[in-house]
Amino acid sequence: MITVKTLENGFEYLEIKNDSCSAKIALQGAHIFEYKRESEKDMLWLSQVSDFEIGKAIRGGIPICWPAFGMNNPNLMQHGFARTSMFEQISTKEIDERTTEVTLRLVHSKKSLKLWNYKFELELKVTLSDKLEMELKTTNLDEKEFTLTQALHTYFSVSDISEVTIKGLDAKPRFDALTQKTFTQNGDIEFDAEFDSVFQKVDSELELKDKSRAIKIKNEGSSSVVVWNPWIEKGSQMSGMKSDGYREFVCVESANAYEDFRVLKPLEVHRLKATICAKR
Ligand code: BG6
Repeated sequence: MITVKTLENGFEYLEIKNDSCSAKIALQGAHIFEYKRESEKDMLWLSQVSDFEIGKAIRGGIPICWPAFGMNNPNLMQHGFARTSMFEQISTKEIDERTTEVTLRLVHSKKSLKLWNYKFELELKVTLSDKLEMELKTTNLDEKEFTLTQALHTYFSVSDISEVTIKGLDAKPRFDALTQKTFTQNGDIEFDAEFDSVFQKVDSELELKDKSRAIKIKNEGSSSVVVWNPWIEKGSQMSGMKSDGYREFVCVESANAYEDFRVLKPLEVHRLKATICAKR
């Protein structure tokens, strides 16, 4: 079942329920902000004090950073403009009792052309079942090529950040945004301080291990992964976040960032795919 809901301030989202899961997707930013498998707690973290307002990004869920990750394009705002742009719902399919597919689209407009002077089509296809599958498809509709960096900036809900391990990034080149240094990662990732790094040449599945569950993350059309937790000081200064919010999530972002940028020629298409599922 798919229902369109509207908050008092006009903020619209889709509520999806089938036999395997439930989910919520805001039309602003095609932003998935809930994904719960039947009788399990949410896989995604959503800040209790997040804004749900037109023009402001939701803190949590899966913001889409596009057409620039972070400040990879210094002429654009941090993480680009897709996460605060209004998408249109172009198709919904109840494939079977356990699987629903939703596609949302954003195309260039007078406003986007002022920010970023390229014609484009951006589509997010979300398939919701006992796994969460996302395909972010970018088409260059311009007459000139453009450079794209992007991320599905997933906030995973965890029992406590100090008990989290991320496997699959050992021996990968790591750019630490905090020190601006690049080195080779040695071992799995654990957290005891602020963490903000981009891993490159990532070509296999990742595993996010927490006290209560393990999640597998498989990316396609991507060889970079961003891992982020703001920890205490930065977390307490961020919009839409309580001071102890940092304990409850880790971001593992399926990306095309830094050296993994893509150049799209006219009519060229790039697909970034991420599949998230609980490990059996
Ligand atoms: C991460 C970046 O992807 O997003 C961090 O690596 C950044 O540097 C974080 O702080 C959150 O960004 P924002 O714009 O949502 O506050």
